[in-house]
Amino acid sequence: MNIKEGNTHMKRPLLQVALDHLDTPGALESARLLGPEVDVLEVGTLLCYAEGARAVRTVRACWPDHILLADLKAADAGGVAAELVFSAGATWMTVICSAPYPTMEAALKVAKTYGEDRDIQVELYGDWTFDHARAWLDLGLQQAVYHRGRDAQAAGKGWDESDLEKINRLVEMGIHVSVTGGLTPDDLAQFRGIPVKAFIAGRSLYGADDPVAAARAFSRSIRAGWS
Ligand code: 5RP
Repeated sequence: MNIKEGNTHMKRPLLQVALDHLDTPGALESARLLGPEVDVLEVGTLLCYAEGARAVRTVRACWPDHILLADLKAADAGGVAAELVFSAGATWMTVICSAPYPTMEAALKVAKTYGEDRDIQVELYGDWTFDHARAWLDLGLQQAVYHRGRDAQAAGKGWDESDLEKINRLVEMGIHVSVTGGLTPDDLAQFRGIPVKAFIAGRSLYGADDPVAAARAFSRSIRAGWS
């Protein structure tokens, strides 16, 4: 099926805020404003670097009902990393696409010991292939994050047709794809027709003059594009 034309009643994408703060109090302040506006709270990679799994535990304690992602982008020791964040209350955790398969497998195995809804997402950065994506599916991994990296964006990388083609192809393979990387509410229209799992935004939400208004603008864009 051509996803773009065939899926008129697709599920509405979730809205996810990436808390890429360098300290937990700053992240909690943004979460206080944005928690009621979003479906998924993310303890961002930078916050994980700065504060570790304690940040996951603290955000979880304040927000018991949200989907909570720990964006570790783990490359090794998948089981140990997963134990750290799932025991702290994470719902999802990320591994980097270049991680060895046993790392991904070990992380997924630990995730599932905490509940069927716990899951691992593969972060797509740099070089990966659709053969890799097939192997991730064979391992039981069903989620990926299609990412325009912060540094790639700063170097001038925009969203283009090749991004949409790759996202569509992953979706057609059966992968639930979230999209992120310097997104603004106006960017979302170009993904219309694609059953995106979640749109993830960091700086344009927590860094906005009015984060609540920014989140509502994202929600309006999602509602406009996905009925
Ligand atoms: C960086 C990330 C970010 O959390 C994600 O890209 C969202 O941040 P922003 O909207 O500020 O680009 O994973 O590695």
